[in-house]
Amino acid sequence: MGEPGEGPSAERAEAFRLRAVEFVRRMRGASQPSLLRCEDGASYVVKFRNNPQHVRVLANEMLAGRLALLIGLSVPRPTVVDVPPELIAASPLLQFELGTRREPCAAGLQFGSRFPGVPGRTLVVDFLPDRLLKDVVKKEPGCFLGALVFDKWTCNCDGRQVIFYRLQDREGSSYSTTLIDHGFCFNDGDWNFPDSPIRSLYPRRMVYGGVRGLDSFEPFLSRVENLEASDLADCVRGIPEEWCGEQPEELTRLVERLYERRRRVRQALIEARDSSLAPFPNWR
Ligand SMILES: Nc1ncnc2c1ncn2[C@@H]1O[C@H](COP(=O)(O)OP(=O)(O)OP(=O)(O)O)[C@@H](O)[C@H]1O
Ligand SMILES: [Mg+2]
Repeated sequence: MGEPGEGPSAERAEAFRLRAVEFVRRMRGASQPSLLRCEDGASYVVKFRNNPQHVRVLANEMLAGRLALLIGLSVPRPTVVDVPPELIAASPLLQFELGTRREPCAAGLQFGSRFPGVPGRTLVVDFLPDRLLKDVVKKEPGCFLGALVFDKWTCNCDGRQVIFYRLQDREGSSYSTTLIDHGFCFNDGDWNFPDSPIRSLYPRRMVYGGVRGLDSFEPFLSRVENLEASDLADCVRGIPEEWCGEQPEELTRLVERLYERRRRVRQALIEARDSSLAPFPNWR
């Protein structure tokens, strides 16, 4: 397996733009995404510009996905997916349910998060029982800790979400993990940073059992702190302007603020430690 975590290169991520060729199925979720097969033969969970959340969810997903790659986190490859109008017209399920109203999903450039493997052959789940989650944490101890560094930095206003995946026919084999759903980083459509010590934690606190101190968050903490402004500027290149809402120029300011914030993550982790949730019981 091992598709997510394509390597820390924003330029590489930028190059991925693919045409959708087939509707596979709808996915669960408030943005009402759909799984589409693309011209490369892989499938992508696609969020549409006119989704019921916010148009900027697409810009957030792309920017956050690239930033995550930049610091070496495992995320599904973020991709611009071009959905032809004919595919929308030929797929009756490519529409949003908005109360009693229906609205077709927009054609054109949408955000795609690559499905890890082949649907039907790869099992993907959002939740694992404690025993299996423990195995995952043991196998990839930095996964949830790197995610917390990232979420504090980007002020992810959603709880941390991950998917676990393995080959369907390998019952008993271990799961791999990858980080998904960055639509609410930078506070959704607001593009600001209402920081809070109790934000962005994974609901299953056992994933933080290995935290002994700030060193436990390495190498991710230092990687964020040492980013260059030009690395961040690279991450917004090629993000379609129509994903940015009414004031697309705010995207430049957003990455400037991310640069300014990069050395505040350390303190944010200490504030999380001292919060009422006390998420790191083994911090010495
Ligand atoms: N790259 C991916 N590969 C496989 N499954 C995925 C991928 N991305 C998302 N999913 C699945 O699709 C679901 C919805 O994705 P996501 O959470 O990003 O959308 P959402 O609209 O924010 O949903 P919610 O509001 O429920 O959080 C996830 O719970 C997960 O099961
Ligand atoms: Mg979600």
